[in-house]
Amino acid sequence: MSAPSELRPLTACRSSALKGVAAVPGDKSISHRALILGGLAVGETEISGLLEAEDVLNTAKAVAAFGSEARREGAGVWRVRGTGVGGWQEPADVLDFGNSGTGSRLMMGAMATTPISAVFTGDASLRKRPMGRVLQPLTLFGAEFEAREGGLMPVRLNGARWPLCIDHKVTVASAQVKSALLLAALNAPGRTRIEQGALTRDHTEKMLAGFGAEIAVEPLESGGDAITLMGQAELKACAVEVPRDPSSAAFPLVAALIVPGSDVLIPGVLLNPRRTGLFGTLIEMGADIVVENRRTSGGEEVGDLRVRHSVLHGVEVPGIRAPSMIDEYPILAVAAAFADGRTAMRGLAELKVKESDRLAAIVAGLKAGGVAVETRGDDLIVDGWGSVPGGGIVETHMDHRIAMSFLVMGLASQAPMSVEDVSMIATSFPDFIELMQSLGAEFEAVV
Ligand code: S3P
Repeated sequence: MSAPSELRPLTACRSSALKGVAAVPGDKSISHRALILGGLAVGETEISGLLEAEDVLNTAKAVAAFGSEARREGAGVWRVRGTGVGGWQEPADVLDFGNSGTGSRLMMGAMATTPISAVFTGDASLRKRPMGRVLQPLTLFGAEFEAREGGLMPVRLNGARWPLCIDHKVTVASAQVKSALLLAALNAPGRTRIEQGALTRDHTEKMLAGFGAEIAVEPLESGGDAITLMGQAELKACAVEVPRDPSSAAFPLVAALIVPGSDVLIPGVLLNPRRTGLFGTLIEMGADIVVENRRTSGGEEVGDLRVRHSVLHGVEVPGIRAPSMIDEYPILAVAAAFADGRTAMRGLAELKVKESDRLAAIVAGLKAGGVAVETRGDDLIVDGWGSVPGGGIVETHMDHRIAMSFLVMGLASQAPMSVEDVSMIATSFPDFIELMQSLGAEFEAVV
């Protein structure tokens, strides 16, 4: 998506009890990966439950631009006919990934060991985000790139003609970087080893195994893990069922916790332990969240979440937990504002390079709503007193999660909260407003 030409403001008003079933959309991380691995596999991959939001649709377009076929067969049902690893062709045009760091970075990896060139760009938010963290290690495979000063998009990436396998330690706690390197390793002869100190989400590893790659994951004493992947792999098409996104579930879930009398069921949510840091943290804060019907679906843990309004208290959130809830800090900060006492969220440096500088955007949004908040280095400290004055207008900085978080805040604050633009919500959760309204949330258009 390019910069919104017209801002679409919206106001959230204090609502009565939220009730009902919140069927949130498919997981964004798994949706990107299903399209990309489908595009690299031999045969036809059938995906169900795909998130049909702008970020993922841009990845589908890019996969098609490299010569794979990605077609929609029905709501969330897609078929991808892959070219086989190493079979991608040079795209005829610039690839525009809109707002999506995941789509662009994973696709850089997926093409980096094939002797073709591609130009990557995105919207005003994505063009501010660091790409060097992916591009630099991709040069170890033999790829070359040109970027704007600071490793910014637009980027031209020339895939390696004679790729090499690598043994590399990823120092940034990023699943996108790890995944880009694993995707590049697919077409590099020999065994690639990628070590990471932080336990970031492992959907790429799981899905590669599901597509038949020779991959092994070994836990390290240091707390991280080491992944080895055999290159020049033949991936075999398979069926992928995408569970519902825990990062999207977080919004109706926190809304139900803070709006008195609420009782909401969120079915079929992905419960991969590397994604559930928010749920554990909220339970520590006193949240009434019950996991029902825990099961495995498509190689991932899934369950239904029953959430009721709760009295929350402040907690200490250690930095080591950040990778398992990296996208959830804006909405956790909102929950913390309604809690009693101090919530200290540690080690949030990575939040500064998301769709916006989220640390700054959270602080500004909470202050606009009259909440006591400060940063100390990379820590975020929120002092809650059980209720929130509200009444402010929040700048969203082209960041979907900032927009959704502060709309949720307005559903329980004393005075309404407005966000200056809701258009970016379409990048991850196109039906967010309608879904929240179906539970009883009250929004008013700003005229
Ligand atoms: C993602 C990884 C995370 C997350 C992003 C999705 C992924 O980014 O913020 O929304 O699908 O791999 P980093 O790995 O860069 O922290």
